Amino acid sequence: MTEIWAHRGARREAPENTLPAFELAVTQGADGVEFDVQLTADGAVVIIHDEAVDRSTNGSGPVVGFTLDKLQRLDASAGVAGYAGVRIPTLADTLELLVPSGLRLNIELKNSEEDYPGLEEQVLAAVAAHGIADRVVLSTFNHYSLKRLQALGATSQLGMLYTDPLYKPWRYAAKLGVGAIHPPARFVLGAGWVRRAHEAGLAVRPWVVNSDRGLARMFHWGVDAVFTDVPAAALTARENHSAGD
Ligand code: G3P
Ligand code: CA
Repeated sequence: MTEIWAHRGARREAPENTLPAFELAVTQGADGVEFDVQLTADGAVVIIHDEAVDRSTNGSGPVVGFTLDKLQRLDASAGVAGYAGVRIPTLADTLELLVPSGLRLNIELKNSEEDYPGLEEQVLAAVAAHGIADRVVLSTFNHYSLKRLQALGATSQLGMLYTDPLYKPWRYAAKLGVGAIHPPARFVLGAGWVRRAHEAGLAVRPWVVNSDRGLARMFHWGVDAVFTDVPAAALTARENHSAGD
């Protein structure tokens, strides 16, 4: 059965990559939660998608230009009604909230534009401290970072993110030695394509799938999980799909 993983939390209903968005994903019954990590100027691991704070907060400038204290003075509600004053969470805050849920967690290292030194080490240490390596997937578009994670002895599954239409990506993924591919949904080319990835021992988790039509296609093709902004709707779509609607 295809799992439903909340993309940056339940971000259609609550501000993305915030504790309320993660909490909502848990209460809605998602199977997993995905979020993005970066480093502040003083080396704290924080949850935010863009390399600059401008879109998702009332501040301006690069994440790496803020100390944790200054970053957490920003309002991360991004104009979503009812959430004024919500803060950018740290990885520690996020794990404290999500670990008891038992959900799968996808920690995406957002380190392609800014190659944060020490981010891999800090993420691995946090995962190890909670003893959750077996239900965490570590992913990044930065494939050098995937190799660094391996060199550091990561035991969590590694997910290869990519944005371009790679030819037979399972071949490249096998060379990298990862356990999963995380392609844009439009590059998942059918049930046979998914089967080839599975035969290569890879989990397939496309992003971002929000429409009923897109979800139905992914359920039918047997992907392992979808990243979605609308976990509640995706769970309903999955029930309907299972019931043969
Ligand atoms: O990890 C899946 C997806 O989150 C990757 O894209 O830009 O939303 O981080 P993005
Ligand atoms: Ca992400």
